[in-house]
Amino acid sequence: MAIPENFLNELVDRNDIVEVVSSYVRLSKKSGSNLFGLCPFHSEKTPSFSVSPDKQIYHCFGCGKGGGVINFIMEIEGLSFPEAVEFLARRVNMTVPEEASDRDSRKRERMLALNREAARFFYAQLSSPGGEAAKRYMAERRIGAATAKNFGVGFAPDAWSSLRDAMKARGFTDMELFEAGLVRKGKNGGFYDTFRKRLMFPVIDVRGNVIGFSGRILGDGEPKYMNSPETLVFNKSRNLFALNLAKKSKSGYIILSEGNIDVVSLHQAGFDSAVASLGTSLTPEQARLLSRYTNEVIIAYDNDTAGIKAAQRAIGILEKLDMKVKVLRLEGAKDPDEYIKKRGADAFRNLLEGSEDQIDYRLRAVTEKYELSSDEQKVAFLKEASELVAHLPGAVERQVYAMRVAELAGVKADAVSDEVERRRKRLLGKARQEQTRRQTQPERQMQPEQRELHFEDPASAAAEKGIVRLLYLEPELSRGGGLPAPEDFSSSALAHIYSVLLEKARRGEALSAATLGEALSGGEMSLLVQLLQEPERLSQGERALNDYIERIRERREQKTDTDDLRKLAEKLKEKKGYKG
Ligand code: GTP
Ligand code: MN
Repeated sequence: MAIPENFLNELVDRNDIVEVVSSYVRLSKKSGSNLFGLCPFHSEKTPSFSVSPDKQIYHCFGCGKGGGVINFIMEIEGLSFPEAVEFLARRVNMTVPEEASDRDSRKRERMLALNREAARFFYAQLSSPGGEAAKRYMAERRIGAATAKNFGVGFAPDAWSSLRDAMKARGFTDMELFEAGLVRKGKNGGFYDTFRKRLMFPVIDVRGNVIGFSGRILGDGEPKYMNSPETLVFNKSRNLFALNLAKKSKSGYIILSEGNIDVVSLHQAGFDSAVASLGTSLTPEQARLLSRYTNEVIIAYDNDTAGIKAAQRAIGILEKLDMKVKVLRLEGAKDPDEYIKKRGADAFRNLLEGSEDQIDYRLRAVTEKYELSSDEQKVAFLKEASELVAHLPGAVERQVYAMRVAELAGVKADAVSDEVERRRKRLLGKARQEQTRRQTQPERQMQPEQRELHFEDPASAAAEKGIVRLLYLEPELSRGGGLPAPEDFSSSALAHIYSVLLEKARRGEALSAATLGEALSGGEMSLLVQLLQEPERLSQGERALNDYIERIRERREQKTDTDDLRKLAEKLKEKKGYKG
């Protein structure tokens, strides 16, 4: 029997991979956010086994084994998938559910259907006579009709039971409404609408499900926002407002802001990659989610101390995932919405374009970290600041900022520039080494480490890997037509991974490397983890997909051609009486 998806997700969440692996392997920090140790799966003297706490996966650069926490236990304890699940469940005092799976998924389906109906209801209220106040407020905030439609913005009427009555008429029960957070229980035991007289923003996940709501008061008052509580389908720390829209953006980056109104206003002004976290500061799970869609995040938080603090935290979380991060300074406005209204979309665009690397911002952040009156701290500051400046590509720029650093620390400018240039040389040396390494090992790089999985046709396999990666990042692709069939693949391992992902995606299940251990062999799992680490630009997803498909087709045609030639040659040999 299949183990329910949400149980597996929780199991994986609770069994932190670093903790689990640490009871078998001594891990230490080597570079970046990854931990390294001696691989438990092959013998080695220098550590090439890495664990990523952020991605919650392990990968050995030596033997190529990799996967999530469940795979690790399967591999190291020699257990089957259900046994490994049982093992990890016991470790954190969870009970593997038995028959519950069907009931659970039916409940989920019902809740999603209810949320969808509720969103429709709120949207319809906007154009009802009772919706006048909301329309006035929207006009005041300059939210247009097209934008409202795009986001499904609606209105919760000023009444105690309007949504409740409407949903009951559609066959939903009080209990269902209650569990979805749409009604609350009164003192006398009756139920009443949670959201009243509020502008309603549905929260929609990347698969297009309405998972919750965020309701803003019309005008001033407390509380400004009410959000759906955590439910079976709504987890604030794992979702982002408007990511369903932003993931389709062609801009190549995602703008992270704080408020729903900011996001709506940004989209309206043409910045269609804006998202917001749901009333919390950015969580590692949200960052992980973002990293599936982009490798560059531009932070546009409110221009107050809370916003600056939150930005610093977000930078830390995002950089751990190797993402490029920039921060906007909204001079003269409290938030992106106000900035756009005061100065216009073009000014905001300039800000986006000018936000390259944010050296000022980062230098300020480094400066604030240290107490410059202490000599010891000053030295630490100089080290960190020089490293920062060394990353700037322009020589003049480096000079200018080296001088600024020297001023801040009260030391000679030359001393800082020398230090910066030394560090610059080291950086360049490293980059060159990395490049040579890549160029001299292209074939080896293309092949999975496991001999039995070696690709017969590396060029086609590269395209196949690309398709698997795209599908993993963008499961919705499975719904449209145009995807190749697994039989078109040249590598049988990739074809199998692909068909498993495709089937799961078509059922609407989440694709997570951590929970695929049942369907994939250990080697296939390792291959999947390996290929997921290669970057994919999702903004060009569709084009990339077509390129991949084209490449696979070309390879197939070439292969048929050579096969035909070979046959022809054999025929000729026979005719002429040669013996091959
Ligand atoms: P305005 O610009 O003032 O119209 O609002 P905004 O949409 O930009 O939101 P703001 O920057 O004030 O708040 C950021 C986010 O924090 C909101 O989108 C909410 O998710 C959350 N938030 C704000 N106020 C409250 C509150 O009173 N209660 C709760 N639970 N969340 C809030
Ligand atoms: Mn705001």
